[in-house]
Amino acid sequence: MKLLVTGGAGFIGSNFIRYWLQRHPGDRITNLDKLTYAGNRANLEGMPPGGELVCRDICDAGLEDLMEGVDAVVHFAAESHVDRSIDSAEIFIQTNVLGTHRLLEAARRKRIARFLHVSTDEVYGALEAEGEFTEAAPLQPNSPYAASKAGGDLLARAYFQTYRFPVILTRSCNNYGPYQHPEKLIPLMATNALEDRPLPVYGKGKQVREWLHVEDHCRVLELALQRGRPGEVYNLGSEQRRTNLQVVQTILRLLDKPQSLIQFVADRPGHDFRYALDAGKARRELQWEPEIDFETGLERTLCWYRQNPAWVESARGPSYKKYYSQMYDNREKRLSEL
Ligand code: NAD
Ligand code: TYD
Repeated sequence: MKLLVTGGAGFIGSNFIRYWLQRHPGDRITNLDKLTYAGNRANLEGMPPGGELVCRDICDAGLEDLMEGVDAVVHFAAESHVDRSIDSAEIFIQTNVLGTHRLLEAARRKRIARFLHVSTDEVYGALEAEGEFTEAAPLQPNSPYAASKAGGDLLARAYFQTYRFPVILTRSCNNYGPYQHPEKLIPLMATNALEDRPLPVYGKGKQVREWLHVEDHCRVLELALQRGRPGEVYNLGSEQRRTNLQVVQTILRLLDKPQSLIQFVADRPGHDFRYALDAGKARRELQWEPEIDFETGLERTLCWYRQNPAWVESARGPSYKKYYSQMYDNREKRLSEL
């Protein structure tokens, strides 16, 4: 089989390529990645043979030439960080909406047999203390990131409705695991804790996220390619729901670091309170069951960050340090001013 994977130098994409090539020796994967700040060549080190990185932008015209002989497109490429979208939304619209359109259009013209559009629970908006989102829930995104992902989702849906182009959509909850950019909650807290630096929890840390290990995500994406029905949406949830404060406290406990490293800082504007997915459809139709429970997966993940200081160094270069300082310096003070 030949796959075109977009965003394969990022967190989930690189885990997916590694997973696929391990399980399907002899298959070939073209990895179309622009190598933005989130794309990291170090994520591709030690890959099994069969992958080829092509450094291009999904917004480019003429993507058809990368689709010769391709059986399926798996579309991960995106701007993915909510906080950055609050700061500067335009690139999110560019990549997540226009880029998704360019890719869909090229794939439709090439009559690609399967197009897997990888999306997020954030398109549904936020829940209060109760309830779960099913696939039928309305899209009510709250952040520019979530709105741009919803735009991409609606285009993918339209390509099925209008052209019967065989798109399958998946909406996953928050992922964690190796190779995740340290701007995201779990690697940020893990790498700070390993250096005995403060752990910046937004607001009071009461927001709830549902956590899926990236390996469980890769497995269900494989199943979606094999068994998913074109035009359908599949929620990918784990039922492993924790407040942010619980997550951070567990990280400190597992790393044997003091809870006093926790620092409450100014909240994210428009911060979604709770995400929770009803993943019954994926369980039934794809015969998928997540296998990695959160505490086990978290322990494995923390070990990985501890054992890979060179990777951490590569992901926390000068641009990350600048971002961190812009995002977090004086943030504690702003909280006390609220
Ligand atoms: P990431 O930010 O780690 O990686 C994104 C990758 O896309 C990077 O390699 C980057 O270089 C590439 N990219 C960005 N813009 C591009 C462009 N214009 N052209 C080509 N490549 C480009 O993201 P991730 O966490 O791996 O997420 C992958 C996908 O999964 C995204 O679509 C995201 O919305 C979705 N998702 C992520 C999570 C999560 O918890 N991380 C949860 C649900 C869904
Ligand atoms: P994040 O990893 O950015 O994912 P998302 O916003 O897409 O869910 O954040 C996960 C949760 O952790 C979210 O509620 C915001 C919170 N958070 C913090 O409290 N402190 C931080 O430094 C970061 C990055 C996130």
